Amino acid sequence: MEVTSKVLLVNACLRKDNSRTLKLVEGFLKEARRKTQYQIIERNITDLKAKPLTSKGFNLDGTQKEIDASLAKEFALADYIVIGAPFYEFSFPSVLSIYIENISIPGITFKYVGENSVGLCKAMSLTYIYTAGGYLKEEDKIGEHLLKRLSSFYGIKEFHSLSATGLDIAGNDVDKIIKEASLEAKEKGSLQI
Ligand SMILES: Cc1cc2nc3c(=O)[nH]c(=O)nc-3n(C[C@H](O)[C@H](O)[C@H](O)COP(=O)(O)O)c2cc1C
Repeated sequence: MEVTSKVLLVNACLRKDNSRTLKLVEGFLKEARRKTQYQIIERNITDLKAKPLTSKGFNLDGTQKEIDASLAKEFALADYIVIGAPFYEFSFPSVLSIYIENISIPGITFKYVGENSVGLCKAMSLTYIYTAGGYLKEEDKIGEHLLKRLSSFYGIKEFHSLSATGLDIAGNDVDKIIKEASLEAKEKGSLQI
């Protein structure tokens, strides 16, 4: 029987039409599928029913109330994870933060061992794909640094990023920049998700 790896695509691209980030994600997955058979499970989080944590989410003793664990279980069991999100305010759209709150459940995506935590996620890699209107300095990439840290917290072995920047700068050829970003990823080998 053929074994197919599961890729969880966490789609945080808010623009339903013409999202350049989604275009980059699709190009990336198409290339990846050319090499290996993957089952892609898309979790579109732009219309997510999961809610942000609020004051109602806590018991009197400060512990968190039960939250729906289905997203966390799906995340923990994926073989590979791809997150697609546009660059907003040095980070990403808040739907992705809400998603992170909902998957960070002790006993599912990580556990505490004494003073430390141990990641419980099975994924071989997390690839973060984004596009930005301007050009970014290293210190601007706060969303990327956060997702890299979270990946290791969840026990995911590798972290990759793929980005295309300068897309809103007048005169720039958007299609050309996206094509170049995809090619660069291919050359670096980061398409080996
Ligand atoms: C709410 C919002 C915030 C943004 N913040 C930034 C920013 O801080 N820096 C930047 O370079 N571009 C910013 N942009 C531009 C987007 O990153 C850029 O247009 C991106 O390519 C959008 O991706 P999409 O085509 O997939 O929607 C912002 C756009 C929006 C709508």
